[in-house]
Amino acid sequence: MKVVVIQGPNLNMLGHREQSIYGPMKLEDIHNQMRAFAEQNGIEIEFFQSNLEGEIVDRIQECLGEADGIIINPAAYTHTSIAIRDAISAVQIPTVEVHLSNVYAREEFRQKSLTAPVCAGQIAGFGPFSYHMAMIAIVQIMNEVKAMREAQQAQQAQQALQNN
Ligand code: DQA
Repeated sequence: MKVVVIQGPNLNMLGHREQSIYGPMKLEDIHNQMRAFAEQNGIEIEFFQSNLEGEIVDRIQECLGEADGIIINPAAYTHTSIAIRDAISAVQIPTVEVHLSNVYAREEFRQKSLTAPVCAGQIAGFGPFSYHMAMIAIVQIMNEVKAMREAQQAQQAQQALQNN
């Protein structure tokens, strides 16, 4: 099973940008922690960061047939991007939205997410630990989907046997 982690604009500046809001940890360090968790759980993981909306849309589309789950922090595009929302909706791959900060305790324009309604759920406000929780959530969801598919296949095989 494979998870693709997609990071939106300015997240490459973590460790430098507004440390009082986002903390001192660099994106690379967050990714190293996620990689360690993925390895412990036998999950393949890949990371992507872009400051460009279209590149994020492209990366989500590329997940089709490649990823079993997506973790995304669309950053500022959370609050503006119908294109990213539509891409998440189009691929139909279980997706968890993540935010380092508690966007609901901040400016009004951050309190609306265009992308969360097409995700399985959203985790916000726990700093880098938000990503750890997103990993736990996506692994759980991917296992559930896998179990459901296997049950369906077993049922179809049983049906085929009965029909012969
Ligand atoms: C953010 C919250 C967004 O409102 C902001 O534009 C970001 C980071 C977060 O992780 O807390 O860039 O997504």
